[in-house]
Amino acid sequence: MRILLLSGPNLAMLGHRDPAVYGTRTLDDLVAIATEAARAHGAELVHVHHDGEGELVAAVHRVVTGATPADAVIINAGALTHYGLSLRDALELLDVPCIELHLSNTQAREPFRHASVIAGVCSGTIAGLGAHGYRLAIDAAVALAEERRG
Ligand code: DQA
Repeated sequence: MRILLLSGPNLAMLGHRDPAVYGTRTLDDLVAIATEAARAHGAELVHVHHDGEGELVAAVHRVVTGATPADAVIINAGALTHYGLSLRDALELLDVPCIELHLSNTQAREPFRHASVIAGVCSGTIAGLGAHGYRLAIDAAVALAEERRG
């Protein structure tokens, strides 16, 4: 079982970025939490971070073509969540479960964060649970991938 975690723009700035909203953990800390959660399920976590939409689209294409084999995808698309239509169209191509993940509760923030253009092409969304969300996203990704395998 292999899970791909995709991190979008500005997430490498976690730790420096508005700790009241995003907490004090760095992206490396969150990846370590997710890696440990995956290991507990006997799964492998692969993490890819890009600030650019095109690179994220290419990373999704590699899953679609099998160049990066993955049984499930977890994506924190950062602000691309709210306007990244080419990322949305790439995610739509996936035939493995995809979980939309956010540290913050986007529904409780500025109105422009309330809309997600990727939600409709993801299996589900986890938001507002901070670092716990990374662990929960792994649990959900493994469960959905196992269900899909049958
Ligand atoms: C975020 C929420 C987005 O609105 C924001 O642009 C981010 C981080 C989150 O994890 O809470 O970059 O995806």
